[in-house]
Amino acid sequence: MYIDVILSPAEIASVLPTRDLSGTTCVVFDVLRATSSMVTALAHGATEIYPVRTIEEALALKARISGALLGGERNGDLIEGFDVGNSPLEYTDRVNGRRIITTTTNGTIALRACDGAERVLVGAVLNIDAVAKVLRATWPARVLIVCAGTFADFALEDACGAGLLISYLGAESLSDSAHAALAVARLYPEPLAALRASQNGRVLVKSGRMADVEWCAQLSLLDVVGEMKSAVIRPVAR
Ligand code: MLT
Repeated sequence: MYIDVILSPAEIASVLPTRDLSGTTCVVFDVLRATSSMVTALAHGATEIYPVRTIEEALALKARISGALLGGERNGDLIEGFDVGNSPLEYTDRVNGRRIITTTTNGTIALRACDGAERVLVGAVLNIDAVAKVLRATWPARVLIVCAGTFADFALEDACGAGLLISYLGAESLSDSAHAALAVARLYPEPLAALRASQNGRVLVKSGRMADVEWCAQLSLLDVVGEMKSAVIRPVAR
């Protein structure tokens, strides 16, 4: 298994579209908070998640999927007219048996940038062990971990998630960026420290969302993996 890591939104925008991903398994991390919210929703019974890039796409999809919850954020806040924001804690009580349409600043963009990949898995600190188990079971030749970032910037928490996954896999062949992600994870034996130190983490704490940061930092709490096929995320049957 060769593991490479995309560490910044600039690479997602410029490098990913030029890559042939047909033989690659992508794992997308947006630890604060998009992929953590998705993993939380799946663990609490959500049946399908539709990640889309824009508010307009979300509204158009909602018109076709009756009963779907509309979720996501802009600037971290609930989008006007939407049912839920992007706090993982909003995806525990009311999602059982529901479909969710979501659009977020970085997370859903990163996921949909992987549309051409052989497999696309949804990663978070919350489900590192479960993702590692899925990858160990198939041992794909090429894994690309995609860190969604924060607005246009590298995000420490996503690199930490990527590094944790690499440490769980113990793969023999790593790109330089994979080595860098692994070094980040080793720097923070407690994921919460990385999440709190990150730009996004500090903004969330300042805006009274420490509970979200603490939730997202729980290592391998949830034994669920989402897989995106044809732009729909469903739990992987295991
Ligand atoms: C994103 O997709 O950019 C994030 O999940 C933003 C957030 O923290 O809500």
